[in-house]
Amino acid sequence: MRLVITGSYEQMSIEAANIVAGQIYLKPNSVLGLATGSTPVSMYQRLIAVHKSLGLDFSQVTTFNLDEYIGMSPDNPQSYHYFMQENFFRHINISPENVFLPNGLAEDMVAEGERYEKLIEARGGIDLQVLGIGQNAHIGFNEPDVKFAATTHQVELDSETIQANSRFFASEDEVPRYAISMGIKTIMMAEHVILLANGRNKAEAVYKALCGDVTPEAPASILQLHRDVAVIIDKEAAAMLPDTIRGVNVTRKS
Ligand code: F6R
Repeated sequence: MRLVITGSYEQMSIEAANIVAGQIYLKPNSVLGLATGSTPVSMYQRLIAVHKSLGLDFSQVTTFNLDEYIGMSPDNPQSYHYFMQENFFRHINISPENVFLPNGLAEDMVAEGERYEKLIEARGGIDLQVLGIGQNAHIGFNEPDVKFAATTHQVELDSETIQANSRFFASEDEVPRYAISMGIKTIMMAEHVILLANGRNKAEAVYKALCGDVTPEAPASILQLHRDVAVIIDKEAAAMLPDTIRGVNVTRKS
């Protein structure tokens, strides 16, 4: 595991965008796993800028998003489909037929999970997965639990997640209670993973992910077992980390 501690959210976003851009330059038909939420917004802005200024070419890229709220249609501004269109896809030259998110309107979520897994497999698996982290150390919407859920599945959101995500809604009551999310195995199967976190409110989750026991009670801790993870965070999110962490190669960039 590599850990890059940056001086700011902007620097974190530049580092992350460089890794994604490098992946696409090296393999133009890369399959990317993508996250929503506030953490990757500036990374998407940088990638859009690199597309516009240097011609970073997304025409052969395929993307799979981590998750979607259940019951939300893609044209609902609160949906993750909408978020991705607005924050990323409509600004780059990606082909709509190469963009995938779980269908939050599917009637049978078990079948939808299976369909999504098969799609990922048919595209050759995920080359690079981008992750944020919840304050409860969730990745995707894999909430703390007694076991790791393997593949794409329906989840009931934690009260902490509902409260954290209520900032995007008029009130907490409007936050959906259920979502469909890639599972831990889906994420762990990715060739490369980058985990992003910024802000003091993520410091405890980052500590648990990097220094705690590997446990489904802190889902991000599973990343300690992945063969190629870069954790890119700002200094606030690193506030609880010790100077050295066993098995982690630390770089500080201001
Ligand atoms: C979003 C996702 C979540 C978020 C996490 C952090 O697709 O899978 O795991 O990455 O909830 O959200 P923000 O970035 O809004 O703090």
